[in-house]
Amino acid sequence: MKILGTGSALPRKTVTNDMLSEFLDTNDEWISTRTGIKSRQIITDERFEELAALAGQRAIEAAGLVPEDIDFILCHNVCNLYTTPSLAALVQHSLGIKGPNCPTMDINAACAGFTYGLDICEAFLQTGRANHILFVCAEEVTRMVDWNQRETCVLFGDAAGAVVLGKGDNYLASKLTSVPMPEVIYHRLPCEPTPYETGEGIDTHQPLVLKGREVFRMAVTTAPRDIRDVVEKAGLQLEDIDYYLLHQANMRIIDAIKQNFNLPAERFLHNIERRGNTSSASIPVLLDEKVREGVIKRGDLMVFNGFGAGFVTSSAVMRY
Ligand code: UT7
Repeated sequence: MKILGTGSALPRKTVTNDMLSEFLDTNDEWISTRTGIKSRQIITDERFEELAALAGQRAIEAAGLVPEDIDFILCHNVCNLYTTPSLAALVQHSLGIKGPNCPTMDINAACAGFTYGLDICEAFLQTGRANHILFVCAEEVTRMVDWNQRETCVLFGDAAGAVVLGKGDNYLASKLTSVPMPEVIYHRLPCEPTPYETGEGIDTHQPLVLKGREVFRMAVTTAPRDIRDVVEKAGLQLEDIDYYLLHQANMRIIDAIKQNFNLPAERFLHNIERRGNTSSASIPVLLDEKVREGVIKRGDLMVFNGFGAGFVTSSAVMRY
C-alpha cells in the first residue's frame, strides 16, 4: 500500500481560547498551559458530510485521479447526525461517484481510527479487492460535548482528513490493541423509545464523558511501548524514522511521549495549537498539512500513533 494523495478540510470558524472565556469559567492561560491549544475550528453552518467529501476531493486531486477512479470508500467517524447511511455512502453521493462498483462503509475505533482504517485498506489492496481507496477520517467532536463542561469542551475541534491509497509496499508494520475500559471515555445518543424497553436509564443521552487523567496516563504508557514495538517490527531503528505523527490530544501528552526517546524534537510534528483535538482526523489532517508545507517528502519514514475510547491504540510505520 502507498499514499497517492492527501487532503483535508476544516470548518470556517476559528474559536480562540479568549472567545471561550466569554461564556465559560476558563482562560487562555489554563487551556494553553494544560493542553497547548490556542484555537480550534468549529462547525457552524457547514454540512458535516460536505466537509468530509471536500477532504476526499482534495486527496483525489492530489493523487492525480478523478472520483470515478475510486473503487472503495472507507470512512472513520465516531458521531454525526446520520447513524445510517454510512458517512462513506454520503461522501460517495457528494463526490458524484455513481457506483455500483465502489463499496462504502464506516468504521469506529475512536481517536485511534486512522491506523485501524489503514490496516483495513491494506487488506483490501493486498487481496485485490480494490485498486484506489479513498479513506476519510471526519469528526465533529464539538457536537458530542456538553458546552457547560469546561473540562471537556475546550479540548476539541472539528476536521476531516483524507488519503487516497493504492498498491505498493510502503506500509511497513502496524500494531492495533484494545483493552476494555469503556468508562474512561464514552458518549451515548438517545434511541427511539419502544413499548417494550425496561430498565432505568437504559436510553439516556450522555454528552461526552472523559476521565482526562486516566486517558493521559494510558496514553503516555502505551504510546512509547507501541512505537518501539512497531518500529522493531518494521526492522528499523527509532532514529531511522523521519517524522512521528501522534494523535493530537494534548501537547503535554506529545511532550511526555517524546521524552521517552532521545530524538530531535522537530521529528514530532504537531498542529494541536491551531486545531485542538479532532479525534481520528488529527493524524491525517496533520499529515496533509505537513505534506503541503513540503515538510514531509516522498521517501520519508513516518510513525503514526493514536489512542482513544475503548481503550484502543494503533501504530504504524509507513513510507510516504
Ligand atoms: O483524544 C482522547 C481524549 N483526550 C483526552 O482524554 C485528553 C487527555 N487528558 C488531558 O489532556 C488532561 O487530563 C486534561 C487537559 C483533560 C485535564 O488536565 P489536568 O491537568 O489533568 O487537569 P485536571 O482535570 O486535574 O483539572 C485541574 C484543575 C481543576 O480544578 P481544581 O479541582 O484543581 O480546583 C479543574 O476544575 O483545573 C480545573 N479546570 C479548568 N480550569 C480552567 C478544568 N478545566 C478547566 C478549564 N479552565 N477549561
